[in-house]
Amino acid sequence: MSQYDVVVIGAGPGGYVAAIRAAQLGFKTACIDAGVNKAGDAPALGGTCLNVGCIPSKALLQSSEHFHAAQHDFAEHGITVGDIKFDAAKMIERKDAIVTKLTGGVKFLFQKNKVDSLHGLGSFKGKNGDLYQIEVDNKGEKTVVEAKHVIVATGSVPRPLPQIAIDNINVLDNEGALNLTAVPQKLGVIGSGVIGLEMGSVWKRVGAEVTILEAAPTFLAAADQQIAKEAFKYFTKEQGLAIELGVKIGEIKSADNGVTVQYETAKGEAHTAQFDKLIVAIGRIPNTNGLNAEAVGLEKDERGFVKVDGDCRTNLPNVWAIGDVVRGPMLAHKASDEGVAVAERIAGQKPHIDFNNVPFVIYTDPEIAWVGKTEEQLKAEGIEYKKGTSGFGANGRALAMGKAKGTVKVLADAKTDRILGVHMIGPVVSELISEGVTGLEFSASSEDIARIIHAHPTLSEVVHEAALAADKRALHG
Ligand code: FAD
Ligand code: NAI
Repeated sequence: MSQYDVVVIGAGPGGYVAAIRAAQLGFKTACIDAGVNKAGDAPALGGTCLNVGCIPSKALLQSSEHFHAAQHDFAEHGITVGDIKFDAAKMIERKDAIVTKLTGGVKFLFQKNKVDSLHGLGSFKGKNGDLYQIEVDNKGEKTVVEAKHVIVATGSVPRPLPQIAIDNINVLDNEGALNLTAVPQKLGVIGSGVIGLEMGSVWKRVGAEVTILEAAPTFLAAADQQIAKEAFKYFTKEQGLAIELGVKIGEIKSADNGVTVQYETAKGEAHTAQFDKLIVAIGRIPNTNGLNAEAVGLEKDERGFVKVDGDCRTNLPNVWAIGDVVRGPMLAHKASDEGVAVAERIAGQKPHIDFNNVPFVIYTDPEIAWVGKTEEQLKAEGIEYKKGTSGFGANGRALAMGKAKGTVKVLADAKTDRILGVHMIGPVVSELISEGVTGLEFSASSEDIARIIHAHPTLSEVVHEAALAADKRALHG
């Protein structure tokens, strides 16, 4: 029976990064993963993120953005294109090639770092002294490995809607939404969260009529509401996404010719909508299926997350859990950072993650990104703050790009000037938010950002201006 210092269960961005870091630190490491490729005929590492999440969604967002730009934006640059056609199957093929490249990349990294990659479903079997016994079930072929330390990184799965089951033909989860090979004429989306907005944008740009039905009365309630309101205006008024807030979803029926959704509006009016396809994106739930946590008494909380402390320690000695299967935001970079930190803790190091500094990004157009506290949170916590805002409207680079829309807001402590939050909507703010993250991580003041030289002409000058504005000395405002 093989014995390891560290066995990681799950090879998503949490697990595969944890395994690589553990191996780098000199531990004999294995990573067990049950993931398979789209065809279902070969193992595919990388978890939700690489296979059916972050990466494929960004590939489709890029393709659809090009199509939209060719139709609507090229003319003002003096570029005339002929009859523009869109081939959804080709877009999916390109996306699949990127996924294959990256999942293969994880396999290569495992080989390079001498991580044993074990394919199959990993489950707790019991203990042999201090060692945990983990069974690996590869289509009925079972092996058992023993480990001093176990890192559970089994991720999450889509939250089901009680009214209807996902068939990924007409009623789609993220996997189905990423694999449509024809543009639906009418697309319904339940949930105006991150997936709803990103996938709604993709299919809207390539010609679908998109209606998003959202239960919450507030749009993007977790985001700073100034930014959320601006986003709502762009998405609905300019881009034509129909977003209905405060709805109550009733009966849903799926037939060969599409899906019928009954719902009640915020005003209490009854509606029935007919869609060709329906995406259900109402959040995700932790995945502990098949883990057999009970065999060793691994504790979960009331919502099914593996219970951990701030350092990702579970109730069991030497069993750790990271990523989507534990509390905190369900984000790939949060999972990876926890993975690195756990491997280093096993090695006796003392890494620290400040969860306040985890950046959030929504890859719509314009993009939305933030880190730290929102104005609403600061008010609720009674923290006195000052704010500086600046827009992309007069930024030279943004104008040259044809993307001069959006706002950056810097929130800083009223007395100390320490940055408390940075909120953005605008072009490529997914990249610009790093400056905010660095600022928060190093306890920078808004004056620090204001005194740093920002290249001209760049989008980052808007961050600079917002920091200057926090001190009421904007130069271009
Ligand atoms: P996962 O990536 O879910 O990986 C878990 C792995 O464990 C899987 O391979 C699974 O097969 C395997 N597994 C589960 N149980 C077992 C078992 N018992 N035995 C063996 N293997 C098992 N996040 C971002 O930060 N940025 C984005 O742009 C982004 N976009 C997204 C878009 C979509 C459509 C979706 C659905 C998610 C997106 N996310 C994004 C979220 C991101 O994908 C997750 O936060 C991230 O994948 C979590 O990583 P993880 O390692 O915890 O789990
Ligand atoms: P989400 O939590 O972002 O949004 C779900 C939305 O559905 C919420 O607005 C919620 O109010 C609504 N909702 C819940 N139940 C409902 C119901 N019965 N009827 C109507 N609306 C309902 O979850 P989503 O979009 O499914 O994505 C899951 C997770 O994946 C995200 O929370 C995020 O962590 C991750 N993700 C991250 C991305 C990124 O970082 N860019 C991109 C996509 C996903």
